Amino acid sequence: MLAPMAGITDRPFRQLCKQLGASYAVSEMLSCDLSLLKTAKTQYRMNHQGEPGPIAVQIAGSDPEQLAAAAIMNVENGAQIIDINMGCPQKKVAKKQCGSALLAYPDLVKKILSTVVEAVDVPVTLKTRLGVDDANKNILTIAQIAEQVGIKALFIHGRTKKQKYQGEASYGLIAQVKQSINLPVIANGDIDSPQKALEVLERTGSDGVMIGRAAQGNPWIFKQIKTFIEKGQLIQPPNDQEILTVMSKHIANLHDFYGPDRGYRMARKHIKWFLANTDLSHMVRQLIQINNAEEQLKFINLHLIKQVA
Ligand SMILES: Cc1cc2nc3c(=O)[nH]c(=O)nc-3n(C[C@H](O)[C@H](O)[C@H](O)COP(=O)(O)O)c2cc1C
Repeated sequence: MLAPMAGITDRPFRQLCKQLGASYAVSEMLSCDLSLLKTAKTQYRMNHQGEPGPIAVQIAGSDPEQLAAAAIMNVENGAQIIDINMGCPQKKVAKKQCGSALLAYPDLVKKILSTVVEAVDVPVTLKTRLGVDDANKNILTIAQIAEQVGIKALFIHGRTKKQKYQGEASYGLIAQVKQSINLPVIANGDIDSPQKALEVLERTGSDGVMIGRAAQGNPWIFKQIKTFIEKGQLIQPPNDQEILTVMSKHIANLHDFYGPDRGYRMARKHIKWFLANTDLSHMVRQLIQINNAEEQLKFINLHLIKQVA
């Protein structure tokens, strides 16, 4: 499954990952502040046109009623699953006691989850962390609350809020959660290869794995993992030609989705990630200096794809 990543898992990237083997993908988080509805950022994040289902939309906030209203609005807009963000460690979100900061307030967590579950007819899931910090790893309590109020699946990043992305993700508590409740549990954090995916599945007994950063520039990872788990086979990574062909199509999709002006900017980080996995990484600097969508694509098609053909 593809993890939600704000600024990355937009509709084009979710579609690409699903095409190449992800079973599931969650939207970037959407603020529950409905006054932001008309902003360009929210409008892009609410666009699911043509995306194969299930359409899973993540919402973030701290006010139960606001979150419920956001859930209802997103279901009306096509969401088939609502995911609640209690994993984000960012200050901007956490300062308002959203994301993983909420884990310090189990009563509020319960109120939020139950209010959203009652508000919509679609399944509601929870994405969260182990707790706020080392001294307060309360994921077992949170998981029990989630099960009690009717949450349908738990996605657990094996770090605390305080850790942000530092240190290594740990999976022991995820295994304990899996044993203590009767909900699908999906493990997340630092899974970057088929071998690691299998190791985490075995160690946690979880029902699936969720991949974030390792899918950047490598949307092939989902099929690699699936094939390894189902058949024990390690499939060859894509060659440079294949990477460039997929990258070029993806860049064109980003230009279409965001329009040329925003599109070439959004494409830059993907270009860096895709090329990092090829022999053409020395071309990145040149490419990201281009300030025009058409020229960006021309450069890729004329210079890069030709070079490896
Ligand atoms: C750039 C970036 C943006 C993220 N945005 C979100 C988000 O919007 N919602 C969320 O629940 N998690 C978000 N995350 C966390 C990821 O979903 C995931 O839990 C985390 O990256 C650990 O998984 P990984 O090691 O496979 O990357 C984000 C992570 C990154 C790196």
